[in-house]
Amino acid sequence: MQNKQLNICYQVYQSGDELPAEWQSLLQKAVEATGSAYAPYSNFRVGAAILLDNGEVVCASNQENAAYPSGLCAERSACYYAGAAYPGAKMLAIAVAACHEGKLTETPTYPCGACRQALVEYEERGGVPMTVIVGSAGRVEVFGSVKALLPFYFDNLEG
Ligand code: THU
Repeated sequence: MQNKQLNICYQVYQSGDELPAEWQSLLQKAVEATGSAYAPYSNFRVGAAILLDNGEVVCASNQENAAYPSGLCAERSACYYAGAAYPGAKMLAIAVAACHEGKLTETPTYPCGACRQALVEYEERGGVPMTVIVGSAGRVEVFGSVKALLPFYFDNLEG
C-alpha cells in the first residue's frame, strides 16, 4: 500500500483588474455572456468565454429547458460550440462568470463535474493546457489547466 497526495496550484486575485490584460478581457466577455443565458428555472445566469489559438473568442451561456436535465451549462455550450465552429482549433483558456438576482456572484462559479470532463477532453485533444479563469465580485481564481480541476478524468475507453 502507498499513500499518495495531490497538490493543486492556483492563483487568487482580489479583483479582475489585477489579471493580465488578455484574461481580463476574456473574463469581461464571460460576464457579458451571462446576458444571453436562458435560465427561467434557476435564475442563475452563467457565461463562458473560450479563447482559441486562432484568436477567436467563443462565448456562450447556460440554456435551460422545462424538462430540467435537458438544459446545458454555459461551459459545455461554449466548448461544443467552439468545437463545432472551429474544428481543430486549440482551446487556450476559458473564463466563467455567473449572475444571481441581477448581480455578479460574490464567490466564483466552478465548472461542474460534467463540464470538467467535457473540457478536459478538448484540452487533451489540443495538446496544450487550457487555463481556467473563474470570476466573481469577491475574487478571481486562475487554474493552469482543466486537469488541475479534474485530475482523475475518464479516458479509458480502450480498457
Ligand atoms: N450552470 C452552469 O451553466 N455552469 C456551471 O458551472 C454551474 C451551473 C448552470 C446550470 C443551470 O442552468 C444553472 O446553472 C443552475 O444550476
